[in-house]
Amino acid sequence: MKINKFISFEGIDFSGKTTQINILKKKLEDLNFKVLVFREPGGMDVAESIREIILNNDFNISRECEMLLFLSARAELVDKVIKPALLDDSFVICDRFVDSTLAYQGYGRKIDLNLINNLNSFVTKSILPTKSFFLDIDLSLMDQRQNINSNDRMENSGKFFFNDVRNGYLEISKNDDRFVKIDASKSIEHISEEIWNQMNIFLGK
Ligand code: TMP
Repeated sequence: MKINKFISFEGIDFSGKTTQINILKKKLEDLNFKVLVFREPGGMDVAESIREIILNNDFNISRECEMLLFLSARAELVDKVIKPALLDDSFVICDRFVDSTLAYQGYGRKIDLNLINNLNSFVTKSILPTKSFFLDIDLSLMDQRQNINSNDRMENSGKFFFNDVRNGYLEISKNDDRFVKIDASKSIEHISEEIWNQMNIFLGK
């Protein structure tokens, strides 16, 4: 059976995902893999336009609308980009995927988790990452790293919200082998080494 080369990165805002994704991309390319990186919401024209709406501080968006916008962006990204890339045997690295909706809209905004799971399966055609790196930081580190003057609509959701989101991630990742939980308060080098060790297991090295 062919195993999808599909990796996702998860964690609360300011957990350092982008830095680690760039390092991993480079290491995989050095091994001659084709690597495509996407961010969620976004990654292609329609989804990037949806992202602009979701993150716009001028909009007051209901939780139902917010969830459906994230899911719409995902539907389009999977259909137009991720599925074809996986069929082409490329490595796909996604900065956030289904688990962000569970953590943010489920645990954060208190939308029913079963509903989110069902809708996630629908929009992804049941495609799941093979490995998901959960970069865990606590709220005090998030506070230190953020600049509240440039926060987007989601980042302005408040301390209680992010506490629930982080607890959501801890809960989701606890009982699923797909996840690798990483202490993202460590140095960039330490974290990237830990990720690479896991990738070597994944690649059968
Ligand atoms: P980013 O800043 O990591 O690109 O993500 C955009 C924001 O959207 C971030 O605050 C997390 C949030 N988000 C959700 O609330 N639900 C989702 O399903 C996704 C993909 C992101």
